[in-house]
Amino acid sequence: MINYGMNGKVALVTGAGGGIGRATALAFAHSGASVLVSDVNATGGAETVTMIEAAGGKALFQACDVSQGDQVKAMVAKAVEAFGRLDYAFNNAGINNMGANEYDDDVWAKSLGVNLTGVMLCMREESEVMMAQGGGAIVNTSSINGLVGNPAQPGYTATKHGVVGLTRHGALRWAKAGIRVNAVCPGVIETPMTAPLAANEEMRKLLDSMTPMGRMGQADEIANAVVWLCSDAASFVTGHPLVIDGGATVF
Ligand SMILES: NC(=O)c1ccc[n+]([C@@H]2O[C@H](COP(=O)([O-])OP(=O)(O)OC[C@H]3O[C@@H](n4cnc5c(N)ncnc54)[C@H](O)[C@@H]3O)[C@@H](O)[C@H]2O)c1
Repeated sequence: MINYGMNGKVALVTGAGGGIGRATALAFAHSGASVLVSDVNATGGAETVTMIEAAGGKALFQACDVSQGDQVKAMVAKAVEAFGRLDYAFNNAGINNMGANEYDDDVWAKSLGVNLTGVMLCMREESEVMMAQGGGAIVNTSSINGLVGNPAQPGYTATKHGVVGLTRHGALRWAKAGIRVNAVCPGVIETPMTAPLAANEEMRKLLDSMTPMGRMGQADEIANAVVWLCSDAASFVTGHPLVIDGGATVF
């Protein structure tokens, strides 16, 4: 893992109670940033904090349902209260209603609330702090389903396309304020989200075969890209939806 020299900086990660969010919270801490770990899952969030502290880093958990504006406001305020500033934000919390019918009103509304409104609410609050500070970097989690269609999941596909749109909007809106806004578009990654599918041997073979590399990606492989996008090494990168999919969308 690369150390991007983030001593004295502060990162906020949503959906950090497991999977890609946890790996990224650990990667920010490895680079020296203090991390506000956030999730609806308090147990997972507390575990992430323990892992960061065990590795010598600094972290604090704040529960937050990203679809609720008041909770998002409190989460961002907590990062500033605890650590004094906010330099990097990874808006990563998301749901994949695997197996459910996303044309059902309730399922559709939940997808929009968490995957799209959640990212908007986070960007809204984070940008206020970053503008007052004179800059920062935001990364949103989209998906390869934010760039290509998925016949099974209208809600997931639409919200993840929406995240790419919000990312491009934010990049333009805040470019002169020194805030860079990018997205990551992961392919199939081995996390708790995909675990129920991957547990089936036949399905695992299918998932592995979906990429030219012949394997699922690992959460660390997304985390490394997120920390790089936030770092000064990516100082001229903004508005970019970075595909990390082992070549799955190359065809
Ligand atoms: N795993 C993949 O193959 C894959 C591929 C492309 C994109 N993604 C995206 O990556 C992100 C992380 O997914 P993951 O694979 O690590 O899955 P995950 O289920 O392990 O992690 C998602 C986290 O978000 C949290 N969460 C759910 N609803 C929330 C809410 N309303 N408010 C706050 N937190 C909430 C969960 O508790 C969980 O800890 C998601 O946005 C997902 O859509 C995942």
